[in-house]
Amino acid sequence: MYRKINFHEPSESSKIKKYVNQSLNTNYYSEGIFDYKVKKYLASNYGLKNTLITHSATGALELSALIAKSSFPNKKVFLPSYTFSSTANAFIRAGFKIQFLDIVKENFMIDFKESVKKVQNNILVPVHYAGFPVEMHGYRDFKKEGFLIEDAAQGLGATWKNKNVGTFGNLSAFSFHYTKNIHGGFAGLISVNEKKYFEQAKFIYERGTDRTKVVSGLKNRYQWVEIGSSFQVPDILAAIIYAQLEDYEVINKKRKKVYEFYSNLFSSKDYSSFFTLPKYSIQSRHNNHAFFLIFNTDKQASNFIEFTKSKGVNCYIGYVPLHNSKMGKRLGLDKRLNNTETYAKKIVRLPFHTNLIKEDLNYISEVFESYFKL
Ligand SMILES: Cc1ncc(COP(=O)(O)O)c(C=O)c1O
Repeated sequence: MYRKINFHEPSESSKIKKYVNQSLNTNYYSEGIFDYKVKKYLASNYGLKNTLITHSATGALELSALIAKSSFPNKKVFLPSYTFSSTANAFIRAGFKIQFLDIVKENFMIDFKESVKKVQNNILVPVHYAGFPVEMHGYRDFKKEGFLIEDAAQGLGATWKNKNVGTFGNLSAFSFHYTKNIHGGFAGLISVNEKKYFEQAKFIYERGTDRTKVVSGLKNRYQWVEIGSSFQVPDILAAIIYAQLEDYEVINKKRKKVYEFYSNLFSSKDYSSFFTLPKYSIQSRHNNHAFFLIFNTDKQASNFIEFTKSKGVNCYIGYVPLHNSKMGKRLGLDKRLNNTETYAKKIVRLPFHTNLIKEDLNYISEVFESYFKL
């Protein structure tokens, strides 16, 4: 039987309507009780102590870039080309020069140890990809002279050596976009792990003013103190995020089932003439965000996407690398990156969301088997 399987569907929580109504009833739509609850939850469950909810991870990265620019105007920013445009945009908009790094072909993330040798005492922005952590070997030493900003857009709940993604850097950015495990439609978060930047972060967040000092009774007039912008979200969004955080166990259980289904499916036979699975260290724990295959050739990957799509199963490519994109070329950032260029076209991400029921998974398995004809 033909079924339509979406690549992604946003997670739901039965508590969303209740909390949104509570938020509406306060008649105070900004920075209310749910903003407070989300922050408290993230501090106690993920070790994220000084956070601000933003309109997106894009916003959180832009805020991070503004903080970095005011303290380190002359440093250069290093980031993978294998990421979303926002990672690069944020730093270029803040006036930084950027340089792209290559990825490890087994997991599509940077090799932290190797990258640090190039970055030296500049700014490094590792991107935790597909819900897995970058292996952060030597991050403490790097931070003695360099500045570390984690792009943890997909990483909430992932750990490396039992430490939460987002707590390694001086700053980190998360996404609550509707494609992420927990979402507010469009939303994100900055975590300011080095306390000395938190006051400045709040000023930048508040359109570059020290209004937070007036709110907390320390001053009676606020003024312009930073180059800032408006990064806030209405409390209704925080209510949506909080409902899912409270239900995270349920959401994660459903996602885990999907992850385990794919893991079992692909460990049952030898698929090495078609693809390999990504590899991670045993110290890396993922958050059930995604599952992807690395095909042996570009053609195999595009054929697989085309075939499965014709059967209603929507698989997807990963990122289109930034360095040799239209903009990357225009900015002269298209220096060759071997692994990025060789492997970006070989990756296929599989449908992954909380609405995939047993029948859907069985159907996916049937379609895949008919493609591989094993
Ligand atoms: C690595 C990375 N950084 C940043 C973003 C931007 O997130 P947002 O849509 O919340 O702005 C994304 C989006 O998926 C992403 O994958």
